[in-house]
Amino acid sequence: MVLLGKQSQKWIKRGGRVLMPNYARFPLVFTKGRGAILVSADNSAYLDFVSGIAVNSLGHCNKGMARAIQKQAASLLHISNLYYNIPQIELAEWLTDHSFANQVFFCNSGAEANEAAIKLARLFAKTINPNRFEIISAENSFHGRTLATLTATGQKKYQEGFEPLPKGFLHVPFDDVGALEKAITPNTAAVLLEPIQGEGGVRVPKSNYLTEVRKLCDKNNLLLVLDEVQTGMGRTGTLFAYEQAGITPDILTLAKGLGGGFPIGAMLARQKIAAVFTPGKHAATFGGNPLACSVALTVSKQMTPSFLKRVQDMGNHLFKNLVLLQSKTGLIKEVRGAGLLVGIDLSLPALEIIKKAHDKGLLLSRTSGHTVRMTPPLTVSCKEIDQAVSIFEEVLGVKA
Ligand SMILES: Cc1ncc(COP(=O)(O)O)c(C=O)c1O
Repeated sequence: MVLLGKQSQKWIKRGGRVLMPNYARFPLVFTKGRGAILVSADNSAYLDFVSGIAVNSLGHCNKGMARAIQKQAASLLHISNLYYNIPQIELAEWLTDHSFANQVFFCNSGAEANEAAIKLARLFAKTINPNRFEIISAENSFHGRTLATLTATGQKKYQEGFEPLPKGFLHVPFDDVGALEKAITPNTAAVLLEPIQGEGGVRVPKSNYLTEVRKLCDKNNLLLVLDEVQTGMGRTGTLFAYEQAGITPDILTLAKGLGGGFPIGAMLARQKIAAVFTPGKHAATFGGNPLACSVALTVSKQMTPSFLKRVQDMGNHLFKNLVLLQSKTGLIKEVRGAGLLVGIDLSLPALEIIKKAHDKGLLLSRTSGHTVRMTPPLTVSCKEIDQAVSIFEEVLGVKA
């Protein structure tokens, strides 16, 4: 049990009165952070293996990001997309230089990026055949909380109570090309997938899955939309997870790690597809504002080959240590993931373990009742990984 300090108690009470009850929050109030460490209102330090759910890729309060924010805030914050701004153009150039895409639309979150992708896919598909509007996504997927994205999400719990849901969304089992092939109809516009299902339990598909899906999309003239909101921007050890599958999508969505903690989302596409987004078809008032884009550009420029190689090395180190721990206890059923996105299936409730980890100064998240997820900052050190695994070992009762 965490014993709440006076400061935390005060803020939790005040928050409970004025904040809507839509989050199941832990009784923790954080006031500052540095690297992989967060400090609570009562001055306790925690090792952060959540990173704002795969967001703080450069750790907390990265100096370069802080400088970029200060510099941009002192010159230009917002001007609207009625005009051009330079950081937006530079960030779009960086993203297109480093991906399959030629053009970018900016927004503020993952759900917004996917909402834009769904609209673009439908609009483009109608140029092939006016009856095409259906989007096939995967069971167990997660694509966001707007009405369209929660309908694309293949988990009933996110949809309950919000019916009637928009039409034109179908779900098939993940990692099953045969099921996908059967679901394609003359009305299918696009296939929307996460390369690795994040919220669905860090599910890594078979190595040929995306290649086969790509072939199927090509054969049927369908768009392949990849949601890399969680896997993108270095999280899995390459800039984008699709690179590891040796394919390219037609549309890609990003958010989370792109801004490293500053809200920004992006949808990337080839020029031929993007061309249907003519003036008036879509917009976001804050999308691509100079502040968000200059921060995201600072984060993006850190994603050098040597940085990504280090993410792979740290990911391997974490994975190896967790597999070693698995060999010492029957409580770990499976360790899954890529890079620094790791899921650990337990034979006991994940929440119980997370609370015990809090008591020992380690922050973890969960994706379901029995799956703990580790998503440290991409800048995490070997020593911090060892510390986290050692605490995890203690809370599992392997180490006295
Ligand atoms: C794969 C994926 N897509 C979309 C989203 C939604 O992103 P946001 O919460 O920024 O709207 C998430 C969030 O967890 C996600 O993991």
